[in-house]
Amino acid sequence: MSEWTRLRKIFGALFALVIGFGYIAAVTNTYFTMHLADGDPAMTVNDIRIHFHGDPSKTLLATKLHGSMRPNLKDDTQLRTIMNWIAGGADRGGFEPVRQILQAQCVRCHNAGFFRPLETFEDVAKTATVDTGMTWERLARLSHEHLFGIGLLCFALGLLVAWTSIKFKYKVGIIALGFLSTLLDTGSWWLTRINPAYALLVMLSGALNGLFFGAGIFAVWYDAFLARGETEK
Ligand code: HEC
Repeated sequence: MSEWTRLRKIFGALFALVIGFGYIAAVTNTYFTMHLADGDPAMTVNDIRIHFHGDPSKTLLATKLHGSMRPNLKDDTQLRTIMNWIAGGADRGGFEPVRQILQAQCVRCHNAGFFRPLETFEDVAKTATVDTGMTWERLARLSHEHLFGIGLLCFALGLLVAWTSIKFKYKVGIIALGFLSTLLDTGSWWLTRINPAYALLVMLSGALNGLFFGAGIFAVWYDAFLARGETEK
């Protein structure tokens, strides 16, 4: 085996190892940001629906406080204070106790310097109207990060797969699966934002994306550790 071939195999195996753990971390992160969206700890298609499309029967503030932001509250009394304020019309008169809770529990993240400020009455009032899901602005930013980030990973892992000795048709299949499922995944977020019925497509395309990472990593490892001498080319 030439030095270059050995180097390529070591490089591929290590890269695939890091990507493998990176993928597990990404799935864990998605679980933590989404699984409480509907208030129930299980991660279901309903969480995806609410995350992107919103819950028109609730306000954004109420949805998040029953969902992913619930752990930031100290106790049920705080939750009740805010929910009563929302139910009572979210008016300026009753805002002071709510402001104190937000100040203590939320503003270290939700300030004007970071994301979705919750400092003034005006800030908070905007989240106390009907929940229409993820803002277009946030969706655009998430899509741009995702397409560039995952797109580059598809490129790098795809290149390593292209270099292995597995059959041509498998290479093409894995590479195409990576790029296409990434596009489908991001596209399905926008579709779900518009129509909640597409939440199932988010799950499906996410699974296809996972299949790409699994198959790509397997192909690279197989080539590095198990394939016979025919890898020499
Ligand atoms: C550790 C940082 C942090 C703290 C503390 C925090 N949040 Fe959040 N908040 C986030 C992140 C990150 C998101 C985006 C992910 C999500 O929607 O679950 C978010 C999303 C939200 C959203 C939706 C914003 C949007 O435009 O989609 C609301 C409303 C919200 N939080 C309210 C609260 C409230 C109320 C508290 C205090 C009880 C709180 N948050 C505490 C980090 C934080």
